[in-house]
Amino acid sequence: MFDINKIREDFPILKRKVNGYPLVYFDNAATSQTPKQVIDCIVDYYSNYNANIHRGVHSLSQEATDKYEQARNKIRGHFNAARSYEIIFTSGTTHGINLVANGFGSFLKEGDELIVSAMEHHSNIVPWQMLCERTGAILKVIPMDENGELIMSSYKELLNENTKLVFCNHISNALGTVNPIEEIIQLAHNVGAAVLIDGAQACPHLKPDVQKLDVDFYVASAHKMCGPTGVGVLYGKEEWLNKLPPYQGGGEMIAEVTFEKTTYADLPHKFEAGTPNICGGIAFGAAIDYLNSIGMEEIMAWEHELLEYATKALEEIEGLRIYGTSKHKTSVISFNIEGVHPYDIGTIVDKLGVAVRTGHHCAQPIMDYFKIPGTVRASFAFYNTKEEIDVLVAAVKKAHLMLA
Ligand code: ALA
Repeated sequence: MFDINKIREDFPILKRKVNGYPLVYFDNAATSQTPKQVIDCIVDYYSNYNANIHRGVHSLSQEATDKYEQARNKIRGHFNAARSYEIIFTSGTTHGINLVANGFGSFLKEGDELIVSAMEHHSNIVPWQMLCERTGAILKVIPMDENGELIMSSYKELLNENTKLVFCNHISNALGTVNPIEEIIQLAHNVGAAVLIDGAQACPHLKPDVQKLDVDFYVASAHKMCGPTGVGVLYGKEEWLNKLPPYQGGGEMIAEVTFEKTTYADLPHKFEAGTPNICGGIAFGAAIDYLNSIGMEEIMAWEHELLEYATKALEEIEGLRIYGTSKHKTSVISFNIEGVHPYDIGTIVDKLGVAVRTGHHCAQPIMDYFKIPGTVRASFAFYNTKEEIDVLVAAVKKAHLMLA
């Protein structure tokens, strides 16, 4: 049973006040809050078995290694990857994308084509532009429409035998659109192109099945899934991970080092140079346990209810426009009020305890498409309530009155 009051008890931060008002946290698409189960896991690590992993014979090191590898296996299960060595720990989604983009430099030649969607976060644009500069590959863009949906007929026209890689988010951080990634992957595979899906905004809401999707690379961040910052995951198909060269050189990623030649370690270690975020990885596993204890389907259902409730209430505000009106949407509402700067709304609602994100959300091409400098973005998580949405709506109305 989905018991919202019980769930809220798990999040100590939800009890705090901001500027004298109870916190209403609607910036979940940037960073989700952390339940005490995950906080306890972090405290347990540093209190009881903090040690480096894969290196020591001593008990603490063994214990930390076991817990870290158990977390990897938990993540494998959650994403339904076939093998735990297809799960690479990263510092987050950006790291995962850069790792793949860097590796693809070895395969591309001038004139090869890469396809990106019009609604990407900068982290799924810039690394590929850097790669194109290095290799002479060409970046093409799947356009979107006024609803914030990708124009799939244009995508089909972009694909050809020169297409080497397609990268797209599963869910847009700025618009909330759920993209048809099954079709995107299938169409890319038909021309022999690989696909990377940025799942940073999807994984807080749903459980992707990487085998069913048949995706080549899937990346996500723990800090949007009730885990800590500074840790994330790259899933890669074994064949791709074996082909890609290492991203960083260092300790732990080698088989043998001499001054003449170094050979690399097997997966996953080939991509995990240096001491990783050990506690972060273990706590990521605890966050996944926590999400599953609530149930991803229950999470999605409640968030959808919040989305519908908030959309209806916000739409009643005169002059308010919502950006991102796709049929398939997650619990993100980006909006502006005519004649009012989003930053000013964000500042006033913060004075009333409401946390929203304002600006271009690291997705400037989307803002350019709508010819706006940015939006106010309210993003809901499963621990939010309709009463909190009432507070947001009242705060936005107050801001509107003050600024209009
Ligand atoms: N990518 C995060 C966001 O959309 C930080 O807010």
